Amino acid sequence: MPDLTPPLGLQLADAPPATPALIEAADRAARFWRGDGATPAAIGSAAHRALACRMFRETFNPYKPSIIDWPQLTPDALHRLVSLPIWDIAVQTEDKAMMRMKAYADGITDPEWHAAIGLNAWEEGRHRVVLSNLVEAYGIALAPAPSYKPPRDTEWAYLVTGFSECIDSFFAFGLFALAKQSAFFPPELVDTFEPVIQEEARHILLFANWLAWHRRNLPLWRRPWFELRVWAVWAFLGWERIGIARGLDDSGAPASAQDNNFTVTGSKAVSDVEISVPDLMALCLAENDRRFAGYDSRLLRPTTMPTLVRTVLGARTVWRRMTGRRPAVA
Ligand SMILES: [Fe+2]
Ligand SMILES: [Fe+2]
Repeated sequence: MPDLTPPLGLQLADAPPATPALIEAADRAARFWRGDGATPAAIGSAAHRALACRMFRETFNPYKPSIIDWPQLTPDALHRLVSLPIWDIAVQTEDKAMMRMKAYADGITDPEWHAAIGLNAWEEGRHRVVLSNLVEAYGIALAPAPSYKPPRDTEWAYLVTGFSECIDSFFAFGLFALAKQSAFFPPELVDTFEPVIQEEARHILLFANWLAWHRRNLPLWRRPWFELRVWAVWAFLGWERIGIARGLDDSGAPASAQDNNFTVTGSKAVSDVEISVPDLMALCLAENDRRFAGYDSRLLRPTTMPTLVRTVLGARTVWRRMTGRRPAVA
């Protein structure tokens, strides 16, 4: 099980003082952050790096997985929770993210990125503990976890993990909002995951800023190779997701029934709200904007998924106008 002592001298909150007011204050501190002054931080500069890394450290949420009080569920809600087709893949994703981020952080000589990405890896380990506690509390059976070898190409592994989180978090923001609107699960259970979801927003915010900083600081001769690798990562992730949707896991082996493409079918599994795919995408966009609104505007936001989805929704609207079709009623 991952080590639960946070790095950088950070502390977890202890049990008795974790009142609703303190939890609310910790959630707020993780969501709203401004750096000192308003001097522009040029992308790739030391000031940009300091801003991104300080944001990450100062928005750390000190929640302790062991004090999460898993609520009693009705038999129906318990059945719905146990049947969600995500538990194996969720646990394995956190394990892989922790190992890959740690491997990349360990190889970085820059102390600020080393500390920030190392803390990110630690937070993935904490997500793993939260999930382990949840599956234990509700008696969810997991497939035996595969053992992972540390990556040889740590930059590739970090890029795959970072972009993968950009895709998954974007959809998770919308699915989480949908789960909140629905009475499928008790609000106390949904609220338990609020810090985890916001943490994923912080992770991809850090990744977007690291990526932009890293690009600017690469020597010119290395930039084309790096950009080719970024394209290759997207191609790999596209193939992996199509593979998962077709029932193959990322090693090409047949996936278990759990691993089907959750973001496509997820809305029905987390809520009883009827929603069309375009409306769900619009919700993901709105939630994406809301979750990043509170951070210093000098930090870059992840753009690929929002741009892609905005383009598809925009093209759909134009197509419907041209063909005289009215938008479907959700
Ligand atoms: Fe995570
Ligand atoms: Fe993450």
